[in-house]
Amino acid sequence: MKVEEIKSVGIVGAGLMGHGIAQVFGIKGYSVNLYDKDPGILESAPGKIRANLQLFLELESIKESDVKLCLNNISPCHRMPDLCKGMDVIIEAVSEKLEVKQSVFAEMERYASRKTLLCTNTSGIRIAKISEGVQNKERVVGTHFWNPPHAVPCVEVIKSEHTSDEAFQVVLELMKKVGKEPVRVLKDIPGFLGNRLQLALFREALSLFQQGIASPEDIDRVVKYSFGSRFPFIGAFETMDLAGHDLGHEVQNYLFPELCSDLKPLNVLKRMVEEGLLGVKTGKGFYEWTDEKIKDTVHRRDLGLLKLAKIRE
Ligand code: NAI
Repeated sequence: MKVEEIKSVGIVGAGLMGHGIAQVFGIKGYSVNLYDKDPGILESAPGKIRANLQLFLELESIKESDVKLCLNNISPCHRMPDLCKGMDVIIEAVSEKLEVKQSVFAEMERYASRKTLLCTNTSGIRIAKISEGVQNKERVVGTHFWNPPHAVPCVEVIKSEHTSDEAFQVVLELMKKVGKEPVRVLKDIPGFLGNRLQLALFREALSLFQQGIASPEDIDRVVKYSFGSRFPFIGAFETMDLAGHDLGHEVQNYLFPELCSDLKPLNVLKRMVEEGLLGVKTGKGFYEWTDEKIKDTVHRRDLGLLKLAKIRE
């Protein structure tokens, strides 16, 4: 299949990620089928997409007619056979449980055409595991969107040992066509690229806090206002090249032995889970969370992401 032949995209799971992924394709004119086993979640999806698009409207990134176009392009479906009918690509965005994903893939294979490309938005489960029961595994590709998918540019496209070069290439091109920044992940490793990098930072941040060296607020300020402020513009390897590898080598020599190398989740996190301090889910984590503060923080994040997209243009 050629990328130009792709006209329709099905999304399984209309939760946090699924509704935003539907928006990504709907706004670019694709015919989108959206399905969730929970009818309430499915019904709430168009309203959530409209609210997301409102922010794009406020920044004049789109017109009112684009909102209508996007919503008209997305058809909620109440059954898997309806979701799969006529779709060129299907992206699975259901809960992060292997057995749930495997059963969804079995249904996709049962109801979709043999030519349909089957993608998974797993955060880190190996693609080969998810496609274990699929007969035609070469058409299964990992497409890891980041939250919120309609505002974060990167999609990690993951090739398992079974994925064909053709399927991998078409999915990469499709992501580019809908304005995403696709990244090639050539080996099917847990956590892919982004979550491995992110988790290395989280481990060190937790360790610094656990040792009483700084508060979460101050560690977050270092992330946001020091190296993090460069990262939208230059990456890790560009930073290292600019600094010089003689210096980098010296620093790694004395600093690596000092860094956290724990192979288990840190004690501070274990204690928080035991005490029910789960973050926004329970109203308290490293910070206190009210409904209003959650709304403000998400709005600040999304607005910042969309403004950054405008700067990049
Ligand atoms: P979510 O819980 O918001 O949505 C999952 C949806 O799947 C729910 O609405 C649920 O009703 C539906 N579902 C469950 N089983 C189903 C089935 N058999 N058939 C149809 N629908 C079914 O979860 P979220 O956050 O949207 O995550 C979805 C996937 O995306 C997961 O694999 C997750 O790891 C991944 N992901 C999540 C990110 C995040 O920040 N939340 C970021 C990147 C990837």
